Order: sequence, then C-alpha cells, then structure tokens
Amino acid sequence: MYILGLESSCDESAASIIKFNNAGNFKVLSDVISSQITIHQKYGGVVPEIAAREHVLTILPTIDECFKKSKIKPLDISAIALTSGPGLITSLISASETAKALALVWQKPIIPINHIEGHIYSAFIENQKKIKFPALILTVSGGHNILAVMEKNLKYKIIGQTLDDAAGEAFDKAAKMMGLGYPGGPIISQMAKKYLKENKNPVEIELPRPMLGSPNLNFSFSGLKTALLYKLKKDKNWKKKIPQYCYSFQKAVIDTLIFKTIKAIKKYQVKTIVLVGGVSANMKLKEELEKKIKQEFKNINLVYPSLKYTGDNATMIALAGIYHFLYNKKNIKNYKKIKINSNLNLS
Ligand code: KG4
Ligand code: ZN
Repeated sequence: MYILGLESSCDESAASIIKFNNAGNFKVLSDVISSQITIHQKYGGVVPEIAAREHVLTILPTIDECFKKSKIKPLDISAIALTSGPGLITSLISASETAKALALVWQKPIIPINHIEGHIYSAFIENQKKIKFPALILTVSGGHNILAVMEKNLKYKIIGQTLDDAAGEAFDKAAKMMGLGYPGGPIISQMAKKYLKENKNPVEIELPRPMLGSPNLNFSFSGLKTALLYKLKKDKNWKKKIPQYCYSFQKAVIDTLIFKTIKAIKKYQVKTIVLVGGVSANMKLKEELEKKIKQEFKNINLVYPSLKYTGDNATMIALAGIYHFLYNKKNIKNYKKIKINSNLNLS
C-alpha cells in the first residue's frame, strides 16, 4: 500500500509518499519540501498572510513532484494523511483544501494528523525498531514544548509543557534581540559553537534557569528571554560579546530542558527517550542529553530524527498516517468530515 502525506501548518509546503504493508514495515519513496524561509527572513519571522499566499502557489507543484519522484500514480494510494492542526489557520487551510479536492476526485479517504504527533513519528522514520514503550517524548519546536509519556503507538499522556514560549520561540526571539536574523536556533547554536572553539575556558553570562525549583514538569522560557534583554540593555559592549551571549543563552535553555527531562525519567518508568521537533537539530542539546542519560540511567536509550526530519516535513505526517491507517481505523475519514484546528491538542 501507499500513503500520501501533506503538511502546510507553518512555512513549509510538503508532500511525501511512503510504501507500507500490514505488518507496519515501510519505505519512504519520496519527500518534497518547498520552504519559505528565505521569504520570511526579510521580516525576521513568519508573516502569516505571506505564508498563506505562498502555500497556495506551491502545494500542487510540491505534490506533483512528489508523485513523479515516487514513480507511483495517484490512484495507487490508499489514503491521504493531512496535518489538521495545530498551526497557522491560513497555512493549514492550503493543504487541507487541496487534500479534500484530491480526495474527492481520486475517491480516497483522508487521515487527519496532529502536527505534534507528526513530529513524534519523525523519530520513527529511521529508528522504528529502537523505540521501546513506554517512551518519554520531548517535543521542542518553534510552537511547542511538551513532555509526554507514550505508552504505546498513538497513545500519549502530557506530563509537562511550556506555560508561555516554546524553546524554539525563545531561540528565535533571542536572536532577533541581538539582530541575528531568523530562524534563531541555528544561528545561536553556530555562534555558541564559535565561542566554545575560541575559548578553552568558557565564561557564562549569568542567566536564569526558569522553573527548576517548581514541583511540576512544566517549562517557561519567556522570563529567560526578558532576562537576556535586560542584560543586553545594561551591557554597552554586548555587540562585541554576541557569541558569549549565544553560548550562555543556549546553555540556559539546554540545562532547563535536560533538568526537566531527567526529572520526568525518574518519575515515570520509561525505556526510551525520544527527542523531536525543530530544536532537536541542536547538536549541543543532543550531546548533553545523551551524556546525562548515560550517567544517570542504565538501559535507557535516546532516539532523535536525523537532521532532514527535525523540521517540518510531510514524511512524519505520512508515517503517523500509516499508524492510524493500520491501528486506528475510526480516524480514516471522508473528505466532508475533515476540519482544521489551529489550537488542536495532542490527545
Ligand atoms: O519544528 P519546527 O520546524 O517548526 C515548528 O513546528 O515550530 O521548529 C522550528 C524551530 C525554530 O524556532 C528554530 O529556531 C528551531 O526550531 N531550531 C533550532 C535549531 N534548528 C532549528 N533551535 C536550536 N538549535 C538549532 N540548531
Ligand atoms: Zn513543526
């Protein structure tokens, strides 16, 4: 069987086709992403109206190219997996209305997929066999910062989340404050790396680790961002110290994420830690988390997607769709029943 995955929740129009069988084995045949990053860079962040217009222009050519690369025909697919939320409503609607039109013409069902669940399944694309349940999932992206226990496929219990900004959003806002451009995460991590390379004895600029003392597993990154702003305002020479500020800011975010993750591992009996979302591209986060898990626990492995699947893509949506297709048949729907929701929760 074949499934077509479609994603347009923010600033990437993406399509993917995966071949799969009833036993859940699969192979990615094609994965096409049309990214708008260079368009939004001029504005220092995603402009919803511009994103919406771009999606309208790119979604069909993206799907067309995806079919050409896969060498299969539209009528060969068994279903369309579609991101139905959360995300920018004016972006979500592009892939959604396209999926509905194609489903009507091709007479195929649609499987609505939560974007966060898509990110979770991004780790399964290349590591399906390494993930043992129950697993602890840390989803860190521009819009989401969630700790969840995954008891089995398609079953999640949220145990912690951000009360304000997500880690990726904090990176983006910090980069904006320092005039470093968008998206902030990759630039800050490069600057931090540069600082570490040039300074054998790194000196941290003091920044808070928010909510470490709180009894729960929630996060808050907006205070950290404000703390950075005040530091920059007080420091006349901050422009000369940008790499040091980036190193210190990144360290504060990573320390906080790791502290709460370790706390969650101690509370819940999990076998695998799964790190997903755009921020999982951060090398330092992966290295430090891996080191800490090895130090403190035996037999718990860390799994994360390869770089090509950390950001928004449609392969993760198609794969989540396969799991629904095989094990959650009630989510296979007629196009008339498809609704998008910008605030969709993971359930
Ligand atoms: O998952 P994603 O592509 O989109 C959302 O669903 O939000 O995540 C994008 C976020 C951005 O905030 C970006 O700054 C962050 O991921 N990001 C990083 C890195 N690469 C991307 N954050 C830290 N370090 C990175 N290397
Ligand atoms: Zn995403």
